Parts: sequence; C-alpha cells; structure tokens
Amino acid sequence: MGFRNDFLWGGAIAACQTEGAWNEEGKTLTFPDIVKKIKPEQRRNFGQAQIDEQALEAGKTGPVSDYPKRWGIDFYHTYKEDIALFAEMGFQVFRFSIALARVFPHLDDPQPNAKALAYYDAVIDECLRHHIEPLVTIVHFDPPIAVWEKYGGWCNPAMIDVYVRYAGVLLERYKDKVKYWVTFNEINMALKAPFKTLGMLSGEGLEYENRRWQGIHNQFVASARTVIRAKEINPAMMVGCMIADITTYPYSSDPRDVLANLKFDQKMNLGFLDVMVKGRYPYFLKNYFAQEGIQWTCSEQDAELLKQGTVDFVGFSYYMSIVTSYTTKDKQLTNGNMTGGLKNACLSSTEWGWQIDPVGLRITANQLYDRYEKPLFVLENGIGSVEVPGPDGQIHDAYRIAYLRDHLRQLKLAAEDGCEILGYTMWGPIDLISSQTSEMSKRYGFIYVDQDDEGQGSKQRIKKDSFAWMQRVIATNGEEL
Ligand code: BG6
Repeated sequence: MGFRNDFLWGGAIAACQTEGAWNEEGKTLTFPDIVKKIKPEQRRNFGQAQIDEQALEAGKTGPVSDYPKRWGIDFYHTYKEDIALFAEMGFQVFRFSIALARVFPHLDDPQPNAKALAYYDAVIDECLRHHIEPLVTIVHFDPPIAVWEKYGGWCNPAMIDVYVRYAGVLLERYKDKVKYWVTFNEINMALKAPFKTLGMLSGEGLEYENRRWQGIHNQFVASARTVIRAKEINPAMMVGCMIADITTYPYSSDPRDVLANLKFDQKMNLGFLDVMVKGRYPYFLKNYFAQEGIQWTCSEQDAELLKQGTVDFVGFSYYMSIVTSYTTKDKQLTNGNMTGGLKNACLSSTEWGWQIDPVGLRITANQLYDRYEKPLFVLENGIGSVEVPGPDGQIHDAYRIAYLRDHLRQLKLAAEDGCEILGYTMWGPIDLISSQTSEMSKRYGFIYVDQDDEGQGSKQRIKKDSFAWMQRVIATNGEEL
C-alpha cells in the first residue's frame, strides 16, 4: 500500500509570481503587478495586502522597483533551463498558469495575442519533451487591471463571457497536449483578497458583499461552462476546482467552539466546493445570505449550468491549520495563508506565523474525500523560509525536507485510509515571489534563485539539499520518505 502507481509527482508555480516580463509582447498591467513588497518586520503581523483606489493609482505610475512581481524570476525567458531542472528531479507533472493579460491583454481584443500563445506553446512542448504532464491553471490570482477599469470586477456578468472565450481558446489549442486543468486558483480567497480573484478593489458594507458574492457566483458559472466546453472538445480532459483549504479545529470541546468551527469551515471551505463539486448551493450558504441580507442573482439557466458543469477532481492547497472559537477574548492570534486564526498550542509555526500541521493534511484529505467521493489533487503545499547560501555556496534546507517528509507521510496514510489522490504538486519548486508579501526572501524552492528583494543578483539557479531528497522520493514513488 502507499501511493497509487500512477500517482503524479511534481511542482506548482503561477505566471504572476515567476514570469516577469510584465510589459513584454503586449501584456498589460495586472493586480499582482501593483502589490508592493513588505518589510521583514511586518512578516508576523501582516494580514493581507489590499488594493484600494490610492494603491491602484500609485501602482500605475510608481517605480517598477517597488513591485517585484513585475520581474518575477524571469521564468518567461528561463523556462527551458528551469523545466530541465524539474525534469532532472523526475517531475511527472508541472502545474503552471497562463496569463489572461498576455492572451487577451485588453479582454475584448478581437483576436488572441499570437506571441503569447506561441510562448505557452513552447512551455507546454518543453514539458512534453521531458515527459512531464502539464497541468494548467487557467487563472491564478492575476486579473488584468482592465477587469476593474472596464467591467468593475467579476460582479459584472460580462466577465463570464470574457473568461469562457479565453478558456475556450486554451482548451481548443491544447486539447491533445494538456489533460489536467484548474479553472480558478483558490477561488475561496475572494473572501480575503477580492483583488486577487475578482479584480475588485477592497471595500465594505452590504452593497460590497452583494457585489463580492455576485462575483463569486459569476466565477462558479464561468467554471461550470468551462467544464462543459472541455468535455465537448475532448472528454478525456480532467477539469478540477481549487480552494485554499483552511483546515480549522475547535479551540476546545465547548460546544460553542465546535459550532463556531463548523460555521467557519462551511463558509470558508465547503460552500465553495459544494457548488463546484455537487453543482448546487448548500443550505448553509443560502441561509447565510438570507440572514445577512446579501442579494445577488442566480438565473435558472445559471443553476442548470452549475448542475451540468461539476468538476472531475477536487484540488486544494494545504499549508497550515488554525483554531476557531466563538470568542477571541484572551486568545492568541496567528497568521496563515491569507486567513489567520487562533494559535494552536500543539503546533510550531514558520517565520511568517503559519502553523505547521502535517496530520491536518491527512484529516483534510479524509474529510474532502468522504464528503465528495471525487479524486483529490494536492495542488500546493510547502514552506517559505529565509535562506542564504552558506560558506560552501549551498543551501542546506533540512527544515524543508522535514516539512515535506512529514506532510507526505501523512498524505500516504490518507491514501492508505482509502482516499483517492491523483497527485501532489509542491508549491514553489523554484524560489519565486511571494503572493501575499511580494518578497523574494520568502523562499519555497528545491532550487535557489540568486536574486534579492530588490531584484538584484545573478539569477543563477542552485540546487538545495531538498532537490536530491525529492528526486529520491519521486524515484521510489514515495516508498522512501
Ligand atoms: C497560495 C497561492 O495561496 O499560497 C500561491 O495559490 C502562493 O500563489 C502560496 O504563493 C503561498 O503564499 P505566499 O504568500 O507565501 O506566496
């Protein structure tokens, strides 16, 4: 027993955190291009970047040096060398995203940008040349600014057609080359960082919540239409959803804590998956809308599309867990992946305050498989650390090996529990720019990139100790962990 024979091992990156080339070959400005890097002293108490009117205006005119995602790690130009390193590790799958701002830079362009498509053709062909299965995220946290300026964000239903047209171009073009697709990265993070998913500036109040939920609904419909379209084009294609799984435990056995925990899980995680996997809104979300007075529109046709366009697999990211209580009084808070929570006395944390919880991955896999009975795909997992090469010029990342080993052991146990798990793509196999904080110095990779927070450095790629370790894990299909 252990991982299935066809288990897919690999890594995951996103266009907006790696490609750079922010204004090359027709690409337009995106929201991640205007997220400033934070200072190291903000790491432990940094909530979530927000983009308001002022930040937007500053981003359009501010110095490029303030915005690290604009240069990324230059993957746009180094993809061949980087993919060769992934192949050397034995990757069987490589998850990356395609940038809408490259393919349809103004969203309503009469034709897709031929240069952008040629670039993605080359990336995909490079993967296939190395026998690596490309797994494409159609949109990963990078709405063009035009989504806001032309449409007012995803709350505008016109965005559904924009997306479906774009997705259709990709599905048609890569129908014989790409089997695995993810419609939206961490769709549930619309609750935390609406600029990243919905292309909406931050806001508050009931009217804002109406627009936020309309935007989320429109993405559900866009995703469902994409699943339907994919099946028409090539029924063998597998289309998945993805959430940032924010695993949470009750603070205590006080039933009020247990209830608060249940409600948090329903709203943060399960509601999103229920719509995309089961094809309908669950009672608890409907009830939440009624209680809060949140109003948005779901036509009969939308409801039918949601029913027909359910996904083939359940994708999720898993980094950490939190604890929830009915009251935060006298309790310590902690950071997390865009979602903080209460501190768990049983767990240690990363330098960014994310609580390290390998067993939580086994629990999560079991909960999701039990609820949906659909194959799971762990699309992100990893640890961000500050790293500087030692006197020998190497990076000895024993803590990363420990983090990944502990999580993979638990994932293996989840497989032995009977959960169907298609694969595992470790987040950031090569150091890249942090999504939340725009730091380069938050490093996740098996491969070090010689570049600092200012974008200075040789950009040389150096294999860390974890590189050889992961190579062995993959070669033995997780037998040696
Ligand atoms: C996930 C995102 O939320 O977490 C990635 O899908 C992101 O884009 C990853 O990079 C880790 O977060 P961060 O903020 O450490 O980069």
